[in-house]
Amino acid sequence: MKNALVIGHTGGIGAAIGVQLQAHGYEVTGLSRTEGGLDFNDPAVADAVLAGIAGPFDLVFVATGALDGAGNAPEKTIRALNPTAMEAQFQINTLGPALVLKHAVRWLPKTTPSHLAVLSARVGSIADNGLGGWMSYRTSKAALNQALRTAAIEFSRTHRHATVLALHPGTVATPFTQNFQSKYKTITPQQSAAGLVNTLLQTGPDQTGTFWDWTGTPVPW
Ligand SMILES: NC(=O)c1ccc[n+]([C@@H]2O[C@H](COP(=O)([O-])OP(=O)(O)OC[C@H]3O[C@@H](n4cnc5c(N)ncnc54)[C@H](OP(=O)(O)O)[C@@H]3O)[C@@H](O)[C@H]2O)c1
Repeated sequence: MKNALVIGHTGGIGAAIGVQLQAHGYEVTGLSRTEGGLDFNDPAVADAVLAGIAGPFDLVFVATGALDGAGNAPEKTIRALNPTAMEAQFQINTLGPALVLKHAVRWLPKTTPSHLAVLSARVGSIADNGLGGWMSYRTSKAALNQALRTAAIEFSRTHRHATVLALHPGTVATPFTQNFQSKYKTITPQQSAAGLVNTLLQTGPDQTGTFWDWTGTPVPW
């Protein structure tokens, strides 16, 4: 049986990803703040928790993330920029997943196919940004995208069967979007997870270091 690690397994999308991966025959291990004490607000502890995970895993899925920083709602304008809030967003959305990429070098097999995906967001795309706003969230996801692209290039040298992707889950009805669900059409976590897992498993090393949405459509960086 193949092994998968789902980080952020307690989240709306992460839980549905775990179910989808089980349906595809993976034995799923979950890791989160409550399942293993992985708190990205404390990067040194998170690094130590990840160092204690031995692996190996054929698939690693990072489904953590936050839209508010230290209790502050996303900024409508640059005038609302708050240093504490922005720093918190970078810890959760950028530094945390980057630490996972660091430790995944040990977890992914070198001689057989493997997949690693991180949930980014379309609003982290620089090319797609026509609106402004949400500066801390957008920039933390744009930085995540660059971390992922960098890791994918480095993985391709040592793990030539690995596929490393950034994924956009759609606008999904989870606690994450609870304040916005009246304004936007949402999909269920199950719909999102089914599309994300299909997209991930249909890609291979030729697509490593790229960005896709839940429908299997590429997203521009
Ligand atoms: N929902 C959407 O429409 C949407 C759209 C675009 C992108 N995304 C991205 O998708 C990802 C998951 O979103 P979701 O809708 O599933 O959100 P969610 O239901 O709020 O789940 C968030 C997950 O992140 C974890 N998390 C939050 N803060 C953390 C921290 N400090 N340290 C470690 N883990 C932490 C949570 O763990 P706890 O259980 O411990 O709180 C939970 O597992 C995020 O990266 C988000 O940016 C979502």
